[in-house]
Amino acid sequence: MSSSQTWRVAVIGAGTISQRVHIPVFQKQPETTVVAVCDVNQARARAIAEETGVANVYGDYEKMLTEQQPNIVVVATPNVFHKPMATAALEAGAHVLCEKPVALTYADAQAMFATAAAHDRVLTVGTHFRFTAPMQAAKVHAVNGYFGRIYAARTVWQRRNGIPGYGSWFTNQDLAGGGALLDIGVHTLDRALYIMDYPKPKRVTGVMFAEFGPRGRGLGGWGADIFQPSANARFDVDDLAWAQVVFEDGVVLQFQVAWAANYPETFVTELFGTEGGARIGGWDSVDLYSMLNGMEVKTETQLPAQKGGSYDQLIANFVRRLNGDEKADIVTPQQALVHVQIVDAITRSAVEGREIVL
Ligand SMILES: NC(=O)c1ccc[n+]([C@@H]2O[C@H](COP(=O)([O-])OP(=O)(O)OC[C@H]3O[C@@H](n4cnc5c(N)ncnc54)[C@H](O)[C@@H]3O)[C@@H](O)[C@H]2O)c1
Repeated sequence: MSSSQTWRVAVIGAGTISQRVHIPVFQKQPETTVVAVCDVNQARARAIAEETGVANVYGDYEKMLTEQQPNIVVVATPNVFHKPMATAALEAGAHVLCEKPVALTYADAQAMFATAAAHDRVLTVGTHFRFTAPMQAAKVHAVNGYFGRIYAARTVWQRRNGIPGYGSWFTNQDLAGGGALLDIGVHTLDRALYIMDYPKPKRVTGVMFAEFGPRGRGLGGWGADIFQPSANARFDVDDLAWAQVVFEDGVVLQFQVAWAANYPETFVTELFGTEGGARIGGWDSVDLYSMLNGMEVKTETQLPAQKGGSYDQLIANFVRRLNGDEKADIVTPQQALVHVQIVDAITRSAVEGREIVL
């Protein structure tokens, strides 16, 4: 691949994330051109194409792949479609940025990454929170040995009122494959595991609840198809999941996500290391804790300014990787597989009421 190549990007799914993120961010990259957008809702695809200046609109992604021959495809549709769409794009010879969760099950994710490997294509996932300023700062502290050995961590994203698209695909098990656990769980896992260098999960115990959604409570503001609770609105996914994951080397991770809860909004990842600890806030803080001259100290990190948002960096890194930079930080197959493996095990543990040994 040559670094002067212009990458032809096609986007499947003209929803909220494509409109706000994928199309504008790919359009900002000097080496990519968004050539087409596809959505079963063609009126929406046309409106977004007009707004962003994308030349071609499709209702059928297979036709788009055949006619446009894109070399990058973005999959940003309801979760259940990620596997068939990403697989078709890889088989058509494109590299793929697939929205999270990459797949609904570990087996599906394994099959997708096998397809990517068989076609020598890059398949990566939109878990972009690792590129926020606090995560990047915490990673620098970790790489430089501040924490010593991280033996325990807790990673939490609990919203006060944040159920997306009530009654839309987001809250429909058949289309979403799950609720808070799949939707924000993979981001929450990546925040901790990225710093911990992705240890291998061994044992998982989890529980799941749906206490707000079924009563039409805790509704948030994301999702194109939001409508008011009605007799027809369907909510058959989880809205809270907690778990404990023990890794191969005995390291433990506690995990809590909720779309809605009677508790203040909490977005934090806490690290417990032999030499230092940290409290990584969601957006703007990394507080460090250690001993100095026999005394307990707390250090506040002054976060370096970042160029662009976390998604800008995810996409820029993806393009750099495609241009041959092996050091460009992308969500690797092994990392994306671990997200789904843990989510899968939490679901099984919750349903079967037992610890899952991987
Ligand atoms: N990385 C992130 O932080 C982040 C944030 C939001 C959403 N997402 C993910 O992005 C994906 C899309 O979410 P959204 O918020 O944009 O949803 P959305 O409901 O706004 O948009 C989804 C779009 O997909 C279209 N679609 C459905 N079936 C289709 C098909 N067969 N072919 C073509 N288009 C089809 C719908 O018509 C809709 O326009 C989801 O997987 C979601 O989890 C990721």
